[in-house]
Amino acid sequence: MEVISKATELQERIKGWKQKGLTVGFVPTMGYLHEGHLSLVRGARKSNDKTAVSIFVNPKQFGPAEDYNVYPRDFNRDAALLEKEGVDLIFYPGVEEMYPAGYKTYVEVEDLENKLCGRSRPGHFRGVCTVVLKLFNLIQPDEAYFGWKDAQQVIILKKMVEDLNLPVKIRPMPLIREEDGLALSSRNIYLNQQERQAALVLYRSLLLAEKMIKNGEREAARIREQMVNLISAEPLARIDYVEIVDLQTLEPLATIEGDALVAVAVYFGRTRLIDNLRFISGVVEK
Ligand code: PAF
Repeated sequence: MEVISKATELQERIKGWKQKGLTVGFVPTMGYLHEGHLSLVRGARKSNDKTAVSIFVNPKQFGPAEDYNVYPRDFNRDAALLEKEGVDLIFYPGVEEMYPAGYKTYVEVEDLENKLCGRSRPGHFRGVCTVVLKLFNLIQPDEAYFGWKDAQQVIILKKMVEDLNLPVKIRPMPLIREEDGLALSSRNIYLNQQERQAALVLYRSLLLAEKMIKNGEREAARIREQMVNLISAEPLARIDYVEIVDLQTLEPLATIEGDALVAVAVYFGRTRLIDNLRFISGVVEK
C-alpha cells in the first residue's frame, strides 16, 4: 500500500493504472475510520482492480463555529486498518496541497444544499462538493463509495455527477450501526456516557417510523409528530430537524407515495448526530 501526499504524484500513479486498463474504486474519507468506512472499502475492492482511499479533513466543509480543529485524527491507525483491507493507495494531502494560496473555485448544487443539514450548516455541502470534485479529478475513479448515513450528501453528489457529466458511478452503501442501533460516526467519540445512551433515541425514532410505515401510515405529519414526541421525551436530546422528504428533490412530503427519506438531526450536548431511513420501492432500509 502506497501513501501519496502530492497531487502530481497521485496523477502519475493513476495514469499508470489507467494505461493498463485497470478500474479504480475510490473511497473519500476524513479519516478516523470505523466499520462504516471499511464496509465502503470492501465494496470498492470487490468490484474494482484498484482501490484508493483519501484521508483529508476538509476545512471547507466546516463552519467557523464547528469542530474542524478538534475533529478526531489518527493517521497511523487509519493506515494500518486500510493496509489490512488490501487498499492499494492512500491519498493523504495537506490543506495547502488541496487549497493552495489564492484558491478560488467552488461547486454548488443549488436548492439541495440548503435543505436538511444545509440549513444549520450553511456552506457545508459547497465544501463537500468542491473537495469531492477535486478528488474525482485527481483519482478519476470508475466508482466512488459513500455511506447512506450521510443521505443528503449521497443525493447531492449524485446530482453533481449527473449535472457535470462526470464519468464516475456513485455507489451508496448501507448504513452500519452499533449492536444497540447507534449509527457509526467518527463524531460518536465526542459523546459522554449519558449522551451515548440518550443518542439511542435516534434509532428508536426510526424504528417507530418504520413500524408506522409498515402498518400502512402514509401521512408524513403523523409519522413526524410521533417521532418528535419520542425524541423530545429524551431530556438530553435537542432536535435540529425531523423531516420526511422526497428522496431525489429533498422537498418535504405531505404523503409518502414514491421513494422517501426520513431524516433526523439531533444535538446531544454539543454533538450533532444524524440518522435516517429510506423508503425505496416500497421497502424500508435503515
Ligand atoms: O463523508 C465524508 O467523510 C466527507 O464529507 C467527504 C465525502 C470525505 C468529503 O470531505
